[in-house]
Amino acid sequence: MMLTIAVSKGRIYEDSLPLLKAAGIVPLDDPKTSRKLILRTTHDKVRLVIIRATDVPTFVEYGAADLGIAGKDVLLEHGAEGLYEPLDLGIARCRMMTAGYVDAPPLGRRIRVATKYVKTAKRYFASLGIQAEIIKLYGAMELAPLVGLADCIVDLVETGNTLKANGLEPKELICEISSRLVVNKASMKINHHIIQPLIDQFETTLKR
Ligand code: ATP
Ligand code: PRP
Repeated sequence: MMLTIAVSKGRIYEDSLPLLKAAGIVPLDDPKTSRKLILRTTHDKVRLVIIRATDVPTFVEYGAADLGIAGKDVLLEHGAEGLYEPLDLGIARCRMMTAGYVDAPPLGRRIRVATKYVKTAKRYFASLGIQAEIIKLYGAMELAPLVGLADCIVDLVETGNTLKANGLEPKELICEISSRLVVNKASMKINHHIIQPLIDQFETTLKR
């Protein structure tokens, strides 16, 4: 029996390493230098698959990975059915916010919003009774207000530097974001004897 954990390259991978290490899981290759997508680890029952952040819930939902580490932003957008979310790992912390021009007049009742978080943005504006036309972008959201593509954006904010560099500012908080451990529901049942101790170990490490 081999457990597969789906992790995205970049900040989540880097921030996950200490947690994984405390559970005896140290990857045998480094995704920064290796082109391998499956990484064996020092734990002979655990391997990592290195995928795009937005693909982590998909792999876990279909059981292609037993566990995964994914940002709450990605989970909100994907939908949480089919996944257990037993632990907030507290890593890759940021905020999902609306943002727009500094000193822009308040938004009207009908607005255009550029974002990669289409469903989450739609839900958010609907909850405020604002009719929002959502324009899906895959990156460089900050550009949208500057070129007249949208009135505002929904994006992640950490330091606020990206917004500031483009003459924008954060406006309303939609959700605090951090990365979560997610588990495939069937695997959680079948492999409970291996997965539960892993979850417990992660939890113990987080409390330290
Ligand atoms: P992809 O590579 O698939 O385009 P991405 O560029 O969003 O995804 P990362 O930038 O590594 O991938 O972000 C992965 C996760 O890290 C996000 O889903 C979010 O939860 C979190 N995150 C993104 N930006 C920040 C940030 N500036 N500060 C802290 N956490 C962040
Ligand atoms: C993320 C996010 C914002 C930025 C916010 O981008 O998409 O653009 O960080 O961080 P800040 O408030 O500290 O500036 P990232 O750095 O991951 O680049 P990418 O997603 O565009 O690759």
